[in-house]
Amino acid sequence: MTDANHQHLESALDEQRTFAPNPAFSAKAHIKSMADYKAMVARAERDPEDYWSEHARNLLQWSRPWKQVLDWQPPSAKWFVGGELNVSVNCLDRHLESVRRDKTAILFEGEPGDRRSLTYAELHAEVCKLANVLATLGVAKGDRVAIYMPMIPEAAVAMLACARIGATHSVVFGGFSADALRDRINDAGAKLVVTADGGYRRGTIVPLKANVDAAVAQTPSIENVLVVRRTGHNVAMQSGRDHWYHDVMASASGTHKAPSIESEHPLFILYTSGTTGKPKGIVHSTAGYLLNCVLTTKLVFDMKESDVYWCTADVGWVTGHSYVVYGPLALGATVVMYEGAPNHPEPDRFWEIIARYRVSIFYTAPTAIRAFVKWGDQWPQKHDLSSLRLLGTVGEPINPEAWMWYHRVIGGERCPIVDTWWQTETGGIMCAPLPGATTTKPGSCTLPLPGVALEVVDKHGHPVPFGKGGLLIVRRPWPSMLRTIWGDHERMKQTYFSDIPGDVYFTGDGARRDADGYFWVMGRVDDVLNVAGHRLGTMEIESALVSHPSVAEAAVVGRPDELKGTGIVAFVSLKKGADVSDTLKDDLKKHVTKEIGAIARPDDVRFTDALPKTRSGKIMRRLLRELASSGEIKGDTTTLEDFAALEKLRDED
Ligand code: WTA
Repeated sequence: MTDANHQHLESALDEQRTFAPNPAFSAKAHIKSMADYKAMVARAERDPEDYWSEHARNLLQWSRPWKQVLDWQPPSAKWFVGGELNVSVNCLDRHLESVRRDKTAILFEGEPGDRRSLTYAELHAEVCKLANVLATLGVAKGDRVAIYMPMIPEAAVAMLACARIGATHSVVFGGFSADALRDRINDAGAKLVVTADGGYRRGTIVPLKANVDAAVAQTPSIENVLVVRRTGHNVAMQSGRDHWYHDVMASASGTHKAPSIESEHPLFILYTSGTTGKPKGIVHSTAGYLLNCVLTTKLVFDMKESDVYWCTADVGWVTGHSYVVYGPLALGATVVMYEGAPNHPEPDRFWEIIARYRVSIFYTAPTAIRAFVKWGDQWPQKHDLSSLRLLGTVGEPINPEAWMWYHRVIGGERCPIVDTWWQTETGGIMCAPLPGATTTKPGSCTLPLPGVALEVVDKHGHPVPFGKGGLLIVRRPWPSMLRTIWGDHERMKQTYFSDIPGDVYFTGDGARRDADGYFWVMGRVDDVLNVAGHRLGTMEIESALVSHPSVAEAAVVGRPDELKGTGIVAFVSLKKGADVSDTLKDDLKKHVTKEIGAIARPDDVRFTDALPKTRSGKIMRRLLRELASSGEIKGDTTTLEDFAALEKLRDED
């Protein structure tokens, strides 16, 4: 944690507007009033294990009941010990016995405009086939499978097929580079990759298969590559290793008996950024994870049988796991999936999709909302958005003005907005309004869900008074919490359970509660940037820069950015003999894109002879942050080793 951020924790919004739930909405909602919410909270506080068990019994289909609800040996939690179920059966097979059999599970629209839909029965058959294919290719329970795909139905099929046979999937966002993919495959020791020839993004083809080829050249564990034909452009296929998905699926059986899988079996690994160079493979469980996905999808989105639900997240992020695939499918919902960019071919693509499919629940990120605001009201106004009944946001704090715009222009002042706070590590939503019960305030994720022991504390773990900033923690284990960091349990302990005493989970976020107890998340207090709703470790970007032959040292900081929330500024000192030039700046930006992906590309690169450091050698990021955002340094510089270095940087502006 850096000292710098404590200052930041004191700054707070003073937002006074409130929006009470509409009585007509509340009357039909799963949770109808504040009194109902409070009763649930009280019940969960009285006996948390009993609270979670009741939901686990009601919401999931088990093949073997559990013997123990929770086994908590901090920081290791096991939930529903002794119990068994199959995630894919919960998302598919159990719906086949009801009218949901022929209900649409996925409504897909590709960026070029192609459309496809799959019923639950059809999705089930695809998943069974792929489960059989994976088994034939030697993938067994406990093996890891990497998934590197565009947002097409096969991405969900691949996840569910892995879940079905107990293979642990590791979805790698299709925007990541070949090098990033290689590192994640190697860390997980994946045996097989599911990919596509390419995907569409802003009218061009993302060369997924070419990236896989480059990655797999350096991944000894990969035995097979399955390739979905999406774009049809020419790609290299290595015989013996690469298989066309449509070929192997054509001869596969559509029936598959799902095995019963232990509650604590690792369902997936998802890599996320931390403060040190290496991304962390966050491991999630089977039963506890699924439980919280289903429960939160039902309560927070108030999901009903007739809803058409669209979460715009990519399956490469945790939101795509929990709220495109597992939560909504386990509830038997109809899910919209769109492959491409929101402004292709025009900035009204999302609104056109909402109107076409009569979307009733829409869940997106503040960074997207800021872009919509910028593009102008004329785009949503061209379309009939009257089908919408609920809106959601996730990924970063939403600015109250963006919230108001969302409420007014998209929600027609009629839709509740659920601002959902959670993380890759929490598996599911932790803090959000319940739309029929909670009065909302623009910019606040309001109140914790029942059973979630969220608190704002000081660094000793003592609660801070309402109105004061502090550190956001979770006091008690919850079913969908991360179980470990893949291959490094000690790092999980160090990262989340060592900064604050009392065996509490530290989120890495700063927050404050207002006079009503509402939570206002103020952002990260560690060296993690939230760029366009995605977490990037400054260390990772710095390591990428330092791997360039001209770079001696680099420090990366964030600065406010109108669209992305945070822009990336890199301060770079060069090796002897390297020439400062605009070409080198461009080269470095390209280099980071190659090493990590376009989301990590610095917006600005500044050269410096030396970086400002403390006497103990720590880079003073606080000063760099001030410099990057305001061009000025107001804070304390007494611990600075070499003031001249800083003076020089300032002169550059
Ligand atoms: C931030 C995304 C404020 C926060 C699900 C968190 C938010 C990080 C919100 C997790 C929100 C997410 N309000 N901040 N509603 N939602 N964050 O792992 O800093 O990609 O720690 O998970 O995003 O990002 P991650």
